[in-house]
Amino acid sequence: MRILVTGAAGFIGNEVSRILLEAGETVYGLDNLNDYYEVSLKEARLARLKDHSRFHFAKMDIADHSALKKVYDEAAPDIVVHLAAQAGVRYSVENPHVYVEANVAGLLNLLECARARRTPHFLFASSSSVYGARDASKPFSVDDPVDHPISLYAATKRSGELMAHSYSHLFGLPITCLRFFTVYGPWGRPDMALFKFTSKILRDEPIEVYNHGKHKRDFTFIDDIVSGILLVLRGKAPSPNAAPRGPAQSTAPFRIYNIGRGQPVELMRFIEALEKSIGKKADCRYIEAQSGDVDATWADVSDLHRDFGYAPQVSVEEGVDRFVRWYREYYAQR
Ligand SMILES: NC(=O)c1ccc[n+]([C@@H]2O[C@H](COP(=O)([O-])OP(=O)(O)OC[C@H]3O[C@@H](n4cnc5c(N)ncnc54)[C@H](O)[C@@H]3O)[C@@H](O)[C@H]2O)c1
Repeated sequence: MRILVTGAAGFIGNEVSRILLEAGETVYGLDNLNDYYEVSLKEARLARLKDHSRFHFAKMDIADHSALKKVYDEAAPDIVVHLAAQAGVRYSVENPHVYVEANVAGLLNLLECARARRTPHFLFASSSSVYGARDASKPFSVDDPVDHPISLYAATKRSGELMAHSYSHLFGLPITCLRFFTVYGPWGRPDMALFKFTSKILRDEPIEVYNHGKHKRDFTFIDDIVSGILLVLRGKAPSPNAAPRGPAQSTAPFRIYNIGRGQPVELMRFIEALEKSIGKKADCRYIEAQSGDVDATWADVSDLHRDFGYAPQVSVEEGVDRFVRWYREYYAQR
């Protein structure tokens, strides 16, 4: 299969590309290698793929429609895994425009390319942030209302789902949206808590614990996310009229799934796992929640299990330990 992976230098896109290449697929990766976080990490991720003869890479911005069209036509993908985005909730408060350029205009350009080439299946990376600030006493279901995003990042991801639905309906494009829940693991993102905490604890610096440590997150290890993405891209693409869903009874070839571990974990338990792995106590400074952050997330993954056999495997303790081992090795070499 020919697979276009956008955001191939990013945390998730890079690992998806690597696993696909190992499995014998042809991968066309693209990424603009922006400096939202250290570019050297993105380059090091790409270096992991360069020896595969079936890996093709274009450094480009998905907001540039004509450049994207050229790359897309050359790739002629059977499947698109669209992961390129401006991520991060807090950064969207200060830098709103880049979110709309990458996550809205960039997505539109990709949907236009997919429409023109009648791409058989388009996967779009959405986010648990679309659920907003809500009651977290039970798992979040894709049938729950998601009309009140509390960050611009979340608003662009929800907008993306809605844009994708309109293209699916109008042009019969099979599209699957996956709402990722806090992904972590080796080769992860330096702007995320685990990365920051690890670097500070190792340097004997205090860590800032938001919301006084009361946050709960459905932390999901990268291998579980990648295996879920692979199940979806190897499985059946959504078909029209298969099962009208949601309040509007959509008949488009369009589905949304949560992809998480399905087990919310308190931030303090996550930190304890980290302390155990590193072998050192963290010096915690408890501070207020940041604007745009939600208190808790909890994925209902039963649909993904039912339709694709998705079954996440990695506990927080094991996942954090694997991250710390990678972190030590990666930075020891630099
Ligand atoms: N990591 C998580 O916990 C998480 C949670 C929810 C959703 N997601 C979504 O999953 C996807 C992948 O996330 P990630 O954690 O790998 O993030 P990441 O930032 O590591 O990867 C995204 C990549 O996209 C690239 N990119 C950004 N704007 C671009 C543009 N305009 N043109 C081309 N490339 C561009 C970046 O350079 C980066 O390498 C994103 O869509 C993100 O919103 C991630």
